[in-house]
Amino acid sequence: MKKVIALLMAMVLLFALAGCSDTGNGTVESKTDVKETAAVTEAVQTDETAVSDDGEAEKTNALVVYFSRTGEQYGVGVIDKGNTAIVADMIVEETGADVFEIIPKEDNYPMTYKELTDYAKEEQNNNARPEILDTVENFDAYDTVYLGYPIWWGDLPMICYTFLESYDFTGKTVIPFCTHAGSGNAGTQSKIQTAIPNAEVKEVLAIAGTDTQNDPDSVKSTVTEWLDEMK
Ligand SMILES: Cc1cc2nc3c(=O)[nH]c(=O)nc-3n(C[C@H](O)[C@H](O)[C@H](O)COP(=O)(O)O)c2cc1C
Repeated sequence: MKKVIALLMAMVLLFALAGCSDTGNGTVESKTDVKETAAVTEAVQTDETAVSDDGEAEKTNALVVYFSRTGEQYGVGVIDKGNTAIVADMIVEETGADVFEIIPKEDNYPMTYKELTDYAKEEQNNNARPEILDTVENFDAYDTVYLGYPIWWGDLPMICYTFLESYDFTGKTVIPFCTHAGSGNAGTQSKIQTAIPNAEVKEVLAIAGTDTQNDPDSVKSTVTEWLDEMK
């Protein structure tokens, strides 16, 4: 009987040892665990390769470009952050896109509303192309360009045409957004499309300028919904 019990115990021990292996660092894992660990390592390695060859996160391929003015603006008094700039920031925050502000090379725009409207009217009458301070580095790398502007005299500010005419938009998707004081998008989608015929220009998101200053939370919800629809 003693022999039978000893034989049984030896068999149990043998089965237990067959299902385990020593990892060499003092811990013991079952074979199943070893297989799972190998699978996880493989998954992590595959994932790392997918992210990028040098292990860094891939850069976004969207760019937010905008023009916006501070100073005295319609219905909001003197502001230190432009209405369109506020919307641009929201888009950057949500999408992680890169950002480029259109800043005039020589900034002669008046800081009072009436003078600014007169100045802008003259630019429009002259079909002016005011120069821009900087250029976008590596514009070719972007597939999507969010373009933001205030409506000026039922149109884009002339400096935005300077921007559109300075780059090759072939094959790019342009998603315009504007702020205004009642005109809505003022038909600017087709004006942009005419300026850059080789791009796909989407519908314009139009936001009342006063809302960006007085009710940013509701503007933020509108922007979030709009970006979701765009996906
Ligand atoms: C020169 C000028 C012209 C404007 N023309 C219009 C217009 O035709 N229609 C409109 O709805 N709002 C018009 N506005 C109001 C602006 O579109 C609005 O205040 C906008 O939110 C300003 O944005 P910003 O602060 O980003 O520059 C005009 C404002 C300025 C300064």
